[in-house]
This record gives sequence, C-alpha cells and structure tokens, in this order.
Amino acid sequence: MGKGRVLVTGGTGYIGSHTAVELMAQGYEVLVVDNLSNSFLETLDGIEQIAGKRPVFEAFDLCDRERFEAFLKVHTNINAIIHFAAYKAVGESVAQPLKYYRNNLVSLMNILELMPLHGVKHLVFSSSCTVYGQPDVLPVDEQAPIKPATSPYGNTKQICEEIIRDTLASGSGLNAISLRYFNPIGAHPSALIGELPIGVPANLVPFITQTAIGLRAQLSVFGNDYNTPDGSNIRDYIHVVDLAKAHVVAVRRMMESKTKSNLEVFNLGTGRGVSVLEMVRTFEKVAGMKLNYKIVGRRPGDAEQVWADTRFANEELGWTAQSTLEETLASAWAWEQYYTSKHPDRH
Ligand code: UD1
Repeated sequence: MGKGRVLVTGGTGYIGSHTAVELMAQGYEVLVVDNLSNSFLETLDGIEQIAGKRPVFEAFDLCDRERFEAFLKVHTNINAIIHFAAYKAVGESVAQPLKYYRNNLVSLMNILELMPLHGVKHLVFSSSCTVYGQPDVLPVDEQAPIKPATSPYGNTKQICEEIIRDTLASGSGLNAISLRYFNPIGAHPSALIGELPIGVPANLVPFITQTAIGLRAQLSVFGNDYNTPDGSNIRDYIHVVDLAKAHVVAVRRMMESKTKSNLEVFNLGTGRGVSVLEMVRTFEKVAGMKLNYKIVGRRPGDAEQVWADTRFANEELGWTAQSTLEETLASAWAWEQYYTSKHPDRH
C-alpha cells in the first residue's frame, strides 16, 4: 500500500531525482513525469539503483493539458504533486522571456486546474529565494517583502506563488506548501545521481567541479568588490539531499492535516552565508587540489548577499539541514568524477 502516491514533475531533474529517492526510501509510491528538456532518461537508472525500484515514468510536457489529463485518468489516487518541472536559467530567461512565462506558468495552471478534477489535494511548489531579491534584513525570513524580480525567471516564481495563493483563496479545496530554496548543491552520497547541467554551467558549484575535472579551463569569480568580508557574493548553499528530505516532510505534513493554513511558505536553507571565495577554498580543501580561478567583473543581476532565516522551517517542519559544507562539496566532487568516468568523452 505504502504511505501514498506522489507525482514528481521534473523528476529526472536535479532536485526532483533526489526527492524521488527520498520519497521511495520513506515508503511513498513515486510517479515521475518529465519532458526531458533539461534532463536525461539515464537518471531513472540511478534512482532505481539507489531506491531498488524504478518509479513509473512518462515523458511529456505538462503544458500539454490533454496529455496530462490522460495521464491522470490512468494513474489514479495520486495524493500529492511535487512540482519541480520548470525552466530555471536566469540568463536564458532574459533572452527568451516568453519561453519562460509560457512553460512555467502554463504547467502550473494545468496542475491547479486538473488537481481537483482528479482528486489530488496536495501540492508542493518549488519556489526560490530569488523572490526576496537583495533583502534589507539578513538572515531573510518568510515575512520579508517580495522584491521586484530581476529576471523573467525570477518573475515566474513570484507569479506562480501568486497563482497558487489566488487559486487556494478561491476555495478550490487544495492545500499547498511553497518551498523557497536557497542554493541547492551537492549530490546523492552514492554518486549515482547529481546535478547535470547541459552545456556550460551557469551555477557556481558545477562550474567549480567541471573546472577541477578539466572540462572548463578556469572559473570566473564574479566580483570581489561587494560590501562583504572578502568582497565576493554570499549565498546559503544547501545539500540537495537535505532539501529533498524537506519535500517528504512537506508531503507528510499535508497528508496528515498538520498544516496551519491551506498555503504555507518555508525557506529551505542552512542559515549560514558562505562567500564565493570561501566556496573555492573549501572545495580546494576537500578535493585536495588548487582550482584555477580568476576574479572578473560582477555578473549583472546578482544580489550581494542572501542567506536564510530557517527558524520557521526548523520549528514547524521539524526539519534542519544536516550536512556540512565540506560533505556537500565532497559529494558534488564525487559525482563529477563518477559521471565523467562513465562519460569520458563529454564536453
Ligand atoms: C540563481 C538564481 C536562483 C536560481 C538559481 C538556479 C538569482 C538571484 N538567483 O542563483 O533563483 O534558482 O540561480 O539557476 O537569480 N558565481 C561565480 N562564478 C560562476 C558562477 C557563479 O562567481 O561561474 C557566483 C555568482 O556570482 C553568485 C554565486 O556564485 O554569487 C552563486 O551563483 P549561482 O550558482 O549562479 O546561483 P545564484 O545566482 O545565487
């Protein structure tokens, strides 16, 4: 029977695959839908190897409402949807805003329209600390004002939160938990699944590990003239497995009717801010090598410093990020090495 059936959209992606594994470890039945636009079928093999079972999988786009409805007619009795499937590249969203608005908004609207028609009550939504912009007060808590988005990507996260809020307020009978991620990094300790950016990585940690393995010549550190102790940006980097576990807690909380309102919002971070240069130094320590990097100019749109006030998640969810930064970076490095050994001609 299991504890419940959970549909994980974007389940072959980075956070989705780690969450599928944690759900299965906790006895949930997992169904995965992904259009494979930014992920690989091979990830299902990793999930299966870790979990000892292959989740139900179908490849389609959630913007295709008819296809999605057909799926829900076959796969009935789904208790909860965790919605990861979305475009997430900040730079690309500036160049192709409509691609981002269409994909990220239409897929969510289809989910919200179809859930009540198919008896699905609970939704977990992947939101982002990007909604806070550069916060006025650090650490930033969930009550902090939402700042105007600095990219179409960030705007889709804000609009999606509003779409959920308005839909729930209209008496749809649905419950939702919106999880605002800080910076997810690292990989499963087995090194069988991890972050797999297509092309040149935009994010810091995959760029670091790809530089270390020799795929990239040099890491650019975007600015050392910020008003921070060492001049580089500060972020709150959270192990993806810790993040994944919070999703299991969120699903259980809704299924056990423990929520305080039909829409709850939680920050998911470690509560600790780490600078880009500290990230480089810590990586060098755990990997036992020097990283080739240089300081370059600021990246447009970067917030100076952001880290989470995690008290609400700690107290209400009974969840706390456990991993140290060293463990987390070591897991990212182990994954990079494992994946490269399996795909020696990647570039
Ligand atoms: C960004 C988004 C976040 C989104 C995430 C996923 C914002 C403010 N944040 O996070 O919402 O979910 O991407 O795509 O839009 N850095 C370097 N060199 C590099 C890469 C990054 O120095 O080659 C620095 C950046 O300047 C930043 C830090 O590393 O200070 C982290 O960057 P990144 O991993 O891209 O994440 P965010 O920009 O924080």
